This record gives sequence, structure tokens and C-alpha cells, in this order.
Amino acid sequence: MSIVIVGTGYVGLVTGACLSEVGHSVACVDVDAKRMKRLANGEVPFYEPGLEDLVRNGIDSKRLSFSTSLPDAYRAAKANRTLSAPVVMIAVGTPSSEDGSADVSGVLQVAREIGSVIDEYTVVASKSTVPVGTSEKIAHAVESGGADRSKFDVVSNPEFLKEGAAVDDFMRPSRIVLGSNAAAATELMLELYRPFNMSHERVMTMGTREAELTKYAANALLATKISFINEIANLCDKLGVDVDSVRRGIGSDPRIGHSFIYPGAGYGGSCFPKDVRALIHAAQGVGIDPYVLTAIHQRNEQQKHFLLDKVLAHFGNDLSAHTIAVWGLSFKPGTDDVREAPALSTVRGLLEAGANVRAFDPVASAQFEAALTPANSTSNRFTIVQDKYEALQGASAMLLLTEWKEFRNPDFERMRTLMKQPCVFDGRNQFDPNRLRAAGWTYVGVGRT
Ligand SMILES: NC(=O)c1ccc[n+]([C@@H]2O[C@H](COP(=O)([O-])OP(=O)(O)OC[C@H]3O[C@@H](n4cnc5c(N)ncnc54)[C@H](O)[C@@H]3O)[C@@H](O)[C@H]2O)c1
Repeated sequence: MSIVIVGTGYVGLVTGACLSEVGHSVACVDVDAKRMKRLANGEVPFYEPGLEDLVRNGIDSKRLSFSTSLPDAYRAAKANRTLSAPVVMIAVGTPSSEDGSADVSGVLQVAREIGSVIDEYTVVASKSTVPVGTSEKIAHAVESGGADRSKFDVVSNPEFLKEGAAVDDFMRPSRIVLGSNAAAATELMLELYRPFNMSHERVMTMGTREAELTKYAANALLATKISFINEIANLCDKLGVDVDSVRRGIGSDPRIGHSFIYPGAGYGGSCFPKDVRALIHAAQGVGIDPYVLTAIHQRNEQQKHFLLDKVLAHFGNDLSAHTIAVWGLSFKPGTDDVREAPALSTVRGLLEAGANVRAFDPVASAQFEAALTPANSTSNRFTIVQDKYEALQGASAMLLLTEWKEFRNPDFERMRTLMKQPCVFDGRNQFDPNRLRAAGWTYVGVGRT
């Protein structure tokens, strides 16, 4: 099949590379000309395990191409197509507006552009996460771009991949949600996803509005689990209870499960925070008081300060005499994405308190530095280093903020020789508190006695 994907970010590029890997012909489009030039040379602009190999395979097999022109990509898709009609997927960002709602202006702008280029029956599929009712707005936008209503159908096809495991998630999806009110469009999308649906049935068909809400509900529920365990961890902290025992105790119940109940420094990334905010806004818009959703969001905002508050409680509010080492800057392991990463608020707080900060991340340093944009007075107190041990030089404490595998079992003896004092704030509960305390370390975790 011939597919055009508009928006070549995390979702668009993974989708394009995986669809081309299974034999489809894919043209990726983006407004970022520099990004597309790099991609045409096989250079992936962000860190995602396994993606570069797929992109190179796609380029070598001539099934994957990159362009800044939607009309050119659409023409090429029509020329390359086999029997079926072309599919144009929208995968541009839907960031938070100031009021918390999802800003779908990029999606609708792309829809208008699509309307101005399609000249035969085409399926327009939205992979972007969009509020309920957006598929109908996409249809209006495609029409207002100039397309006849009989020439297209809109499908809501939300994406559930996780950054850091995106290729695997796409290749072996837990489910493929197709929201469509048109049988012809559903058929075409089933054909598109057939290679991913071989071993067992993964496709779920539903209406467009149901598909749109499924995506938000999924992210909000995962965020709920994180905020819930973080609240329990705060309780543990005050009551002198070990949250790790509690976590294992509840996770063994199959109705609860072990995943997403790890306490830590809060959730971040490009999805959970904005999607929870968008759902709160959507609920308020229809007169529902979003008690649960609001609490999830508020707990997370609090949780981002948990470790900083512990550091200030330990050293006092003036950190100007201290160097603090930070391990991990991305919002989670396996990605260089720092959007809404807890490390951003923690490092900003440390700098505001006067600390010198020496930070290390295996892949996210450049992105973090760009996102941090510290004020001039603090910028000379923030240093990125190339090795985790180098970050510890002269540090009064180390803060672990992202649980990269390489941080799991460090050489604590070596660490002690580099640091001013043996002190660790474990924002992801990765280390053994008993072992460290027995060896003379000051250990502070999240809800660990
Ligand atoms: N990142 C994830 O893990 C993830 C997972 C599931 C769903 N989503 C959703 O998918 C959507 C995209 O997310 P993302 O993380 O891939 O975003 P992203 O910011 O990484 O990528 C978006 C891309 O769209 C491009 N773009 C913007 N306007 C354009 C236009 N008019 N024409 C062509 N290209 C344009 C940008 O240049 C950028 O490269 C969002 O709605 C997000 O919520 C993201």
C-alpha cells in the first residue's frame, strides 16, 4: 500500500519506518527541512533503539522517502500504489494550550492541506492524540481545503507506542484501534495493519469518538497508577513504612499488576502531562468535575519537587556551598526526550537554591541543555559531563532522576572517593538502602524507610 505520513517526529517516523519494513511504500513529510535532509541520509534525529536500522532498510529498499512537500509525497504515493487507495496519516504534535486543552491547530492545518491535494478516494487517518470530536473537525478541514466529501473518509487511529520501546511496540502492538464510521476506510486500514495482525487479532474497530477517548483514557489511567503509588510513597515516608514492600504486596494481585506502580520523581514526557490536562479540560467543557484527573495532575506536580525538597531539608535552603551531581535527565530511560522531564524542575530548583550542578545522561544531554535555558546568573553553575563518575567530582550528593540500566549497579566505593561525602538521593528507588546505609552512606529514597 502507499502511505503518506505528515509529521515526522517520534510517532510519524516510527510509524513510517515500521510500515515500510513490512512492505508498504511510505513517504514521510515534515516542515523541518533540516530534519528531512538528515533523515534522507539515514540519520535519525532522536534516540530510539532499533529505529535507525529500520530507516536505513527503508531507504535502501526505496520504500521509505522523506520530503517537505505534501503534494509531491501524495503524487509519489499515487504513482507507487498497488491496488488500494492511498492513506494519508496525520502525526503532528498536539501540545497543551495555555488553558490545558489540546491545541489541534496543527492537525487541522495539515487536514486543510490534505484537502487541497487529494484528487481521488483517500483515507485520512489521525495518529495524533486528539480530543473527542476532532475527526469530525478534520473532515470539515479537509473539505474546506477543497476536497469533495465523497473523495475521503477520516479514521481515528491513535498510537500507543512507548518511547524507548517504540519499534517493538509498533511491530507487536497490544492493540490496534481503528475508529471509523465508514466501512471502506476500515477495510483499507485493516489491510494496512494486516502484517501486524497475523498471530492473533489485535484490531479493535469502533467509532471515531470512542477511539479518540480510548487514547486519553489509556494515558490517564497509566498516569493514575503512577500518581497513586507516589501518594502512597509519600504516606510511607511519613509513617516509616517501606513502599517497596507495599508495592510488591499490591502488585502481586493480578487485578492490580506490577507495572506502573513504581514510585519516583513524577511522570513527564510529551504525553501523560498534556493528555491528563487535556482530559481535565474536556471534562470541564461538558460540565463534569474531573475530581480524579485533577488529583492525578496535582500529585504529579507535587511529586516533581519531592527530591528537591528532600535535598533542601537535608542541606538547608542555601545550596551555594554545594555541588550536586545529577544522574539521568531524560523523562524516562531509553529516550532522549526531555519534554516535561522531572529533571528539568529539579535542576532548575537546585540552581535557584545556589547549587553547582554537574549532570550526566547517556543520551539526553544536548536536549536537556537546550530545554533548560538557565538564566545567565546560573548557567555557569550548570555543567554537563560525559561520564557518570565525572559528575560526582566534589559533589555533596548525587541525585538519581532517570533509571537508566547503567545506573543500577554503580561502583559505590569509587563514587565515595570522588564525592565530598557519601550521600545519594534515589529518585527512582534503584539502590538498596540497607546496603548503602550499612556502608556509611546517607540514603534518601521515595517512601523508603
Ligand atoms: N511521542 C510519543 O510517545 C507519542 C505516543 C503516542 C501518541 N503521541 C501523539 O502523537 C502526536 C505526535 O507526537 P510526537 O511525539 O511524534 O511529536 P513530535 O513533536 O516529535 O513530532 C511532530 C512533528 O510534526 C512536524 N510538523 C508540525 N507541523 C507540521 C506540518 N504542518 N506539516 C508537516 N509536519 C509538521 C514537526 O516538525 C515535528 O517533526 C501527538 O499528538 C502526541 O500526543 C505521541
